[in-house]
Amino acid sequence: MYKKLNILEDSDKHLRMISKDAKLPLSDEYKKTIEHIIDELTYSQIEELAKKYDLRPGMGLAFPQLGINERIIVIVHEYEDGKFNNYVVVNPKIVSESSEMIAAEAGEGCLSVNREVEGHVKRHARVTVEGFDVDGNPIKFRAREELSIAFQHEIDHLNGILFYDRIDKNKPFYTEDELRLI
Ligand code: NI
Repeated sequence: MYKKLNILEDSDKHLRMISKDAKLPLSDEYKKTIEHIIDELTYSQIEELAKKYDLRPGMGLAFPQLGINERIIVIVHEYEDGKFNNYVVVNPKIVSESSEMIAAEAGEGCLSVNREVEGHVKRHARVTVEGFDVDGNPIKFRAREELSIAFQHEIDHLNGILFYDRIDKNKPFYTEDELRLI
């Protein structure tokens, strides 16, 4: 029987802490945890398996959401119907970002936030992220659109920031004229 990850809710203090750099190479235990996360994020995006295992769809998870305040993020991006790319970045840093901003039109969700939070989250349309793979080799990704949003969302988790912190309370929604909505 598949054993689900124990994902913390946003009321947990681990979600509000600044995480520290992870030591490289990662331990076998952490590597196993990462495989587990990749499996679960993948299953969650495949309707039949999501139903079977009772998973909420999600494309990213950061270690603090498991109560481990170390700088490790995992993204499983469905770039084409049923096709997924995995991104695992240890100690990620955004080294460049577009001045162009975007927002997900439907808003963002988070596996630690078990409710709808309405509003647009302003994000850079493109980012370049540098960091390390699980063995300590340097890696670099250029991300745009949805994937760019995912990187920014997950890296925020490492700094104790949740997506709704970035929703402007006075003006939660933008029009297409004000911001490109994807
Ligand atoms: Ni999240």
